[in-house]
Amino acid sequence: MKILIVGSGGREHAIAASVAKSPKADKIYCAPGNAGIGQIAQCVPIGAMEFDKLVTFAKENAIDLTIVGMDDPLVGGIVDVFEAEGLRIFGPRKNAAILEGSKAFSKDLMKKYNIPTAAYENFDDAQEALAYLETADFPIVLKADGLALGKGVLICNTLEEAKDGVKSIMLDKQFGTAGNRMVIEEFMTGREVSVLSYVDGKTIKTMTSAQDHKRAKDGDQGLNTGGMGTFSPSPFYTEEVDKFCKEHIYQATVDAMAAEGREFKGIIFFGLMLTPKGPKVLEYNARFGDPEAQVVLPRMKNDIIDVVEACIDGTLDKIELAFEDNAAVCVVLASDGYPIKYEKGLEIRGLEQFEGKDGYYCFHAGTKLDENGRFVTNGGRVLGVTAKGADLKEARENAYEATKWIDFDNKYMRNDIGKAIYEA
Ligand code: AMP
Ligand code: GLY
Repeated sequence: MKILIVGSGGREHAIAASVAKSPKADKIYCAPGNAGIGQIAQCVPIGAMEFDKLVTFAKENAIDLTIVGMDDPLVGGIVDVFEAEGLRIFGPRKNAAILEGSKAFSKDLMKKYNIPTAAYENFDDAQEALAYLETADFPIVLKADGLALGKGVLICNTLEEAKDGVKSIMLDKQFGTAGNRMVIEEFMTGREVSVLSYVDGKTIKTMTSAQDHKRAKDGDQGLNTGGMGTFSPSPFYTEEVDKFCKEHIYQATVDAMAAEGREFKGIIFFGLMLTPKGPKVLEYNARFGDPEAQVVLPRMKNDIIDVVEACIDGTLDKIELAFEDNAAVCVVLASDGYPIKYEKGLEIRGLEQFEGKDGYYCFHAGTKLDENGRFVTNGGRVLGVTAKGADLKEARENAYEATKWIDFDNKYMRNDIGKAIYEA
């Protein structure tokens, strides 16, 4: 088969590596990809939002299956465009990707179908939002409705902060049109867990759990980022939690989408918070998480093409999903200054050290080849260094050991990825 992957980050590298393991994959393309993906796939210089060019490429190259890694093209309707041209593609259609594309939609869905989540109100009007805050309890959480690169959530401790937040989201449009509407919701406490799942419209099969570290600095300090590291499985995702989520969240979400005439096929990523009152949904994403995919996919035993095809064909009930009985940790190597301001074009040394080492992966996020054929940094998050181990402790030691193999100027990482496991 000829497979096209759409996206350019560590997640797409992890997807490509998983696809490359399949005996069914004869040729892999990635649009636009990055330097690391280029080692296992042919990168095609087409942007993820250039749907017409992607369709033309898929037709001219007889692509059998397209897998979309990123949220923007899914929310923008890439699946509808491909399907209209008779092309096979994995991901939710536009009317289902709204599960991630609009937080107001997802909150209303959860309310209507009794799926546990924080209490909330949606607002289209800044003055109404400001008036609402006058009687609210603090801290409180403000969320821009649309996609905002994971940055559209503000946790406000005081009325003043919250008012400023409403102004910057709805009036100053800090997150652009994503802030035309907003959700104001109750602040919850608890540990966060990410559960990714495959969905075929009716059946849902959850993958092994993971936990992200979203803040830039150790001890969950600093700014929110796309994710600085992950571990899988989460020791906090117990059988009891799993049972509750199976009863109240997972299938309920798939059924709710179907009942709304928005059949969901693809990946649903459940961002959960394990609150004192039980697990609640923080957010939905309509794609693999990044860097969650970098710890979950290396542990998956199935042929990813079989699973993806079962989702498209509506036969996921026939698939037995299986994960290795081990653990994985991913430490993101970033350029110091991320997520605000950082240099690009710095030479990356030591990548060859990963060659031939089983259980170690160096997924590229922001890298490219310069004119001399050297690997250089090309983004804030540069690499996702992932290692497996018999348990989380060993996986963590292995991952941090492997971070030493890589060197580039301004290399920055958190030193406490997976440290929480010692509290479990
Ligand atoms: P989201 O993009 O909705 O997952 O939000 C980003 C991050 O903000 C989450 O991972 C949480 O750490 C935090 N967050 C979001 N909603 C809430 C909430 N209702 N209570 C507490 N923290 C929240
Ligand atoms: N790691 C969080 C996300 O992919 O949204």
